[in-house]
Amino acid sequence: MDHFHYRDGELHAEDVPLARIAEQIGTPVYVYSRAALERHARVFREAVGQGGARTICAFAVKSNPNLAVLRVMRREGFGADVVSGGELARALAAGMPAEAIVFSGVGKQAPEMAAGLDAGIGQFNIESEEEGLELSAIAAARGQQASCALRINPDIDAGTHEKISTGKRDNKFGVPIDQAAPMFARLAALPGLSMRGVAVHIGSQLASLAPLEAAFVRLGELIAELRAAGHSVSHADLGGGLGVCHKAGEILPTPQEYGAMVARVTKGWDTTLMFEPGRVIAGNAGVLLTRVVRVKRNANRDPFVIVDAAMNDLARPALYGAWHDFEPVRLRPERMTANIVGPICESGDTFATGRPIVAMGAGDLAVFRTAGAYGASMASSYNSRGLVAEVMVDNERFATVADRITPEAISAAERVPDWLD
Ligand code: LLP
Repeated sequence: MDHFHYRDGELHAEDVPLARIAEQIGTPVYVYSRAALERHARVFREAVGQGGARTICAFAVKSNPNLAVLRVMRREGFGADVVSGGELARALAAGMPAEAIVFSGVGKQAPEMAAGLDAGIGQFNIESEEEGLELSAIAAARGQQASCALRINPDIDAGTHEKISTGKRDNKFGVPIDQAAPMFARLAALPGLSMRGVAVHIGSQLASLAPLEAAFVRLGELIAELRAAGHSVSHADLGGGLGVCHKAGEILPTPQEYGAMVARVTKGWDTTLMFEPGRVIAGNAGVLLTRVVRVKRNANRDPFVIVDAAMNDLARPALYGAWHDFEPVRLRPERMTANIVGPICESGDTFATGRPIVAMGAGDLAVFRTAGAYGASMASSYNSRGLVAEVMVDNERFATVADRITPEAISAAERVPDWLD
């Protein structure tokens, strides 16, 4: 249940007809449902609480960093998983409690580490010994203790798209599991670091729980090994990665099934369990609303339905070959098979090929579903198209939560040096 539904043949977000948003805000525009975000957050939190452990849910800001979205997450008791100084600033601006902020990422830079220390964040997920040494020096010089977990790489194939797999030996993430215990010991001996836990995240859009379970089992073995060596391990960060339905009818593991598996595997761990969900919360809480510019009919092949959204607004189909359901705002019985494309000047700007859809003509409105995560957050201004606007719906009202950034505003930040005159 995601709060995008047809009423009298007209697609609504909660109680707002999407046609009204298109009329007032223009297209393309991302539309988020406050109720869907809340519902997904609650379902997830309850699911991972099944085993009775203390839990911290840190929303993966990269999936949707919009301040209004983060505010909804904060109201639901979520913290934030951040991977840059920019994301940290957003999480703090949204009012997320610092102790529920986790800083992940292989390339944290000194000013970003200092910003995390200034804010007093709950956990740095250290991804290499080199990073740990640097953080130790920065924290010690400031007379602070950085609270840390060591992120391990369990060498497990998450079975997802290779570009979003993070837990295989060849990936840049985490430290090899077989080197983790001695490295943890060396890091724990450094000044300025307080090693409190271990972390793992093997990839995104996982369609099966088996690789997650295998990774958590390895993490559990490491916790036992560390404790046997005299370390205290109070936190286990299980990352994010749970996949969502991108295609009507697809069956994926539910948050409840995930939570049950977590409860079974982590039984007896006696740690606070941390989670970094992104897509499972935001993915199906948003759509990208777009208008058909025209339908171009070529001989001998399906027509091109050219929409006003493009790969710069929603990069996932071009980048990962991802499927996003395409649905009309106004239902009608006629159908067609189409190639759905944007206006950008490369053939990669294709959302779908040979897709059976409801018949569309110039001026019709439609949505790409499952666009609430890794949609607006990955947008660019390629082809000088500006940055897409974002709207949040709340029952019968809605608000613009990100203005459209016009091409003029973007070029206003550019300078032509005198010596080019
Ligand atoms: N934690 C860490 C350390 C991560 O790297 C990620 C995602 C998450 C949590 C959240 O994962 P989620 O629950 O959303 O699967 N742009 C890609 C997805 C990249 C995910 C990167 N890391 C896409 O559009 O599919």
